[in-house]
Amino acid sequence: MRTPIIAGNWKMNNTIKEALTLIDGIKGNELNANVEAVVCVPFTAIKDVKEALNDTNIKLGSQNIHWEDNGAFTGEISGPMLKELGVEYCIIGHSERRQYFNETDDTVNKKVKAALGHGIKPIVCVGESLDQREEGKAEEVVNSQVINGFKGIPSEAIKDIVIAYEPIWAIGTGKTASSDDANAMCSFIRKTIGELYGDEKENIRIQYGGSVKPNNVNELMGKSDIDGALVGGASLKAEDFVKLVNY
Ligand code: 13P
Repeated sequence: MRTPIIAGNWKMNNTIKEALTLIDGIKGNELNANVEAVVCVPFTAIKDVKEALNDTNIKLGSQNIHWEDNGAFTGEISGPMLKELGVEYCIIGHSERRQYFNETDDTVNKKVKAALGHGIKPIVCVGESLDQREEGKAEEVVNSQVINGFKGIPSEAIKDIVIAYEPIWAIGTGKTASSDDANAMCSFIRKTIGELYGDEKENIRIQYGGSVKPNNVNELMGKSDIDGALVGGASLKAEDFVKLVNY
């Protein structure tokens, strides 16, 4: 019922030239048409990657958005600018942005509204740190990230939003949450969305992210509440990305 969604988060990797080589490598393969494949690329590569993806079903995403449409916000990129380039998805509130660039639940909320306002689908990232997990606070942290991130978002928008559960301790570390733990949190997130939006909880897609690789994607995707993956490192290799989409 929910279309699986495998998204690559390239982070700050790939010049335009490198990006086009990677896309070329992916395009040489057949991709499962029943899985939505997305690449979230650096701003500088968006225009060229869009052109390179024209003859494919792969969707294009950015990794950030500013909440205002224009103005004195040096260094920022707005919704209209992204829309003009054909961006369909936007990662919002990644833990690296929360950690290094002072992103908060409040800025996440404003960015989600901005993206939706321009017809861009948000991929909203949530997840706890290792300390928070060890203190038994993982659910509390994720619950509050969801509640605050979704303030004022209308229920009609829920089907267009993706939530990525990324436990910070599993990102780039080679440590994956066990598929049962990952599913338990995704299920908890769906319950939280149910408390806010009732039956719409069945329409929102929830991804797991954190050291997803070709050798663990199958088990994760087999779980009831995991609808996709947000993938860093493995999405930078054409062969691995293809394997992930064709899990
Ligand atoms: P890795 O897949 O490299 O652990 O990164 C996960 C991530 O942060 C995706 O957004």
